[in-house]
Amino acid sequence: MAEYTLRVFRGDAKGGEEREYRVQAAEGWVVLDAIHAIQREQDGSLACRWNCKAAKCGSCSAEINGIPSLMCKTRLDALPPGPIRVYPIKTFPLIRDLVTDVSWNYEQAKKIQAFTYDPKIGDQPFRIRQRDVERVQEFRKCIECFLCQNVCHVLREHQLKDHYFGPRQMIRLAGLEMHPMDIADRAEMIWQEAGVGYCNITKCCEEVCPESIRITDNGIIPLKERVIDSRGLLRVLRGLVRRRTG
Ligand code: SF4
Ligand code: SF4
Ligand code: FES
Repeated sequence: MAEYTLRVFRGDAKGGEEREYRVQAAEGWVVLDAIHAIQREQDGSLACRWNCKAAKCGSCSAEINGIPSLMCKTRLDALPPGPIRVYPIKTFPLIRDLVTDVSWNYEQAKKIQAFTYDPKIGDQPFRIRQRDVERVQEFRKCIECFLCQNVCHVLREHQLKDHYFGPRQMIRLAGLEMHPMDIADRAEMIWQEAGVGYCNITKCCEEVCPESIRITDNGIIPLKERVIDSRGLLRVLRGLVRRRTG
């Protein structure tokens, strides 16, 4: 066993403070184990969200020593010596202690046209090239931890939630747009409503993704290229229509 000091944020939307706890931890403990030990042995009112403890449900996102991380994937013995500061993610409204209200992300997701397959295919099985499968599978690894949304400066510093859906929704869109069996055209929506132009490719989102999804290189940049191509084509078509209709 080893002793660790945790400084955990306690409070709600009205304000709060850091509280210190000392925890005896067994080898291999992660930050979530220490939070559970605090709840069990010292303070049952400490609120945190978790579900799988296997880095797969995306619920336990927090800022550990200022670094957005999953509490269940961050080992205590991998952190630098000294007190460990555990805070809620900042970009979304605080409910209590380590729990934030991330429902805004689901509201944006509802605005995205779902997978739309070509009815001409009928009951035939999908035949898709392996490289197309792999391209889309990368985006499907997302566990909706929203750590990428938490660090994106468009949402965090500039609070432009009315203008940009954020990196998590960009990779959802990329997964749909790059699926060879999807026939929906979302280009205008990606540009206007989802606001892909607000991303300036800082790649902060990629750095924190626990699934190592290459959000910008494989998702957002190709989306931008598609939208630009499509809008360029739209302009040419509109010009032709104008010319023909006089
Ligand atoms: S690369 Fe784009 S989506 Fe990712 S953090 Fe930067 S601005 Fe946000
Ligand atoms: S893209 Fe990565 S960081 Fe963003 S929500 Fe999905 S798993 Fe989390
Ligand atoms: S508890 Fe599920 S990702 Fe951490």
